[in-house]
Amino acid sequence: MNLQKFTFIPNLRMIKPGSMLVQRPRRNRKSAVIREMVAENNVGVQDLIFPLFIIEGENQKTPIQSMPGIYRYSLDLLLEEIAECVELGIQAFAPFPNISENLKDKYASESYREDSLYLHAIRTIKAQFADICLITDVAMDPYSSAGHDGIVEDGKILNDETLEILGKMALAQAEAGADIIAPSDMMDGRVGHIRRELDDAGYTEVSIMAYTAKYASAFYGPFRDALDSAPKFGDKKTYQMNPANGSEAILEAQLDFEEGADFLMVKPALPYLDVIKSLKETFPLPIAAYNVSGEYAMVKAAAMQGWLNGESAMLETLLSIKRAGADVILTYFAKEFAELQKKNQR
Ligand code: PBG
Repeated sequence: MNLQKFTFIPNLRMIKPGSMLVQRPRRNRKSAVIREMVAENNVGVQDLIFPLFIIEGENQKTPIQSMPGIYRYSLDLLLEEIAECVELGIQAFAPFPNISENLKDKYASESYREDSLYLHAIRTIKAQFADICLITDVAMDPYSSAGHDGIVEDGKILNDETLEILGKMALAQAEAGADIIAPSDMMDGRVGHIRRELDDAGYTEVSIMAYTAKYASAFYGPFRDALDSAPKFGDKKTYQMNPANGSEAILEAQLDFEEGADFLMVKPALPYLDVIKSLKETFPLPIAAYNVSGEYAMVKAAAMQGWLNGESAMLETLLSIKRAGADVILTYFAKEFAELQKKNQR
């Protein structure tokens, strides 16, 4: 890390307050035009990826209690929602499936069944919106009867056996038309395994956005409500990272880099801005940050109480993630941000 030394300018100490200050940083803040001209960072709609929740059925749009403004959509309505977002300038989407309980099993076999809700949705979305970027989720938890990201045997999560399932899932998603495969499971070696599976099948152009530094976080609660995917026992601490650790993120990033990742992701974003910054400074790959469900819920909840200005808090949140070094941000604020930007352009 570059720690710049503080330089002491001795003669300024002698100056009477207000008389002869040479440096007055406030001059660069005196008007909106200048403030914008000298802004070091900004957020644009092209930086954002919008996560979406898919459910079975037709004409279904169900609210998620803990995520005001975010819904689960059946495919027909999801296509309309995507069309609206595209109109607003959003070009990248990360769909997640809500799988009915009776389709879940120990091996998440629904995750690579050709006509599954998710794979069918990917095919349909891609057929209708050829130009958008679809980032698909590889992880067992939405399809796992245990609600875990790996195969569970005697209460333990098996690593290498899980890789086989993740490989099949990734391949099925590539076949369905995914542009970027995003493994969110945190098994060791999964990026390399998925890369090999994709390459062997000829999908050398399908990218991998690795959930590189994914922490065992309390901020995923609302997402698990949305998918009904909370673990049925225990927690995810034997595979997701300990919030106490920063250097370990470098190790995870080094491995993902060597195994062929195209993007490195940090998740959640706000409590881990330092990790975003250190990965950005260390690796020559685009850095993604996941502004997760709980971060969204906090802002929304406070705004609904009138405890803070939701719009300003949203903008400041996204900007801080960019300033830390993120190139792209997965955020539930994407549509609201795009709407606000459009409104301000008029
Ligand atoms: C699971 C997954 C989670 C999220 C994305 N993929 C939750 C978890 O690990 O339990 C969380 C996203 C969010 O909170 O917005 N593979």
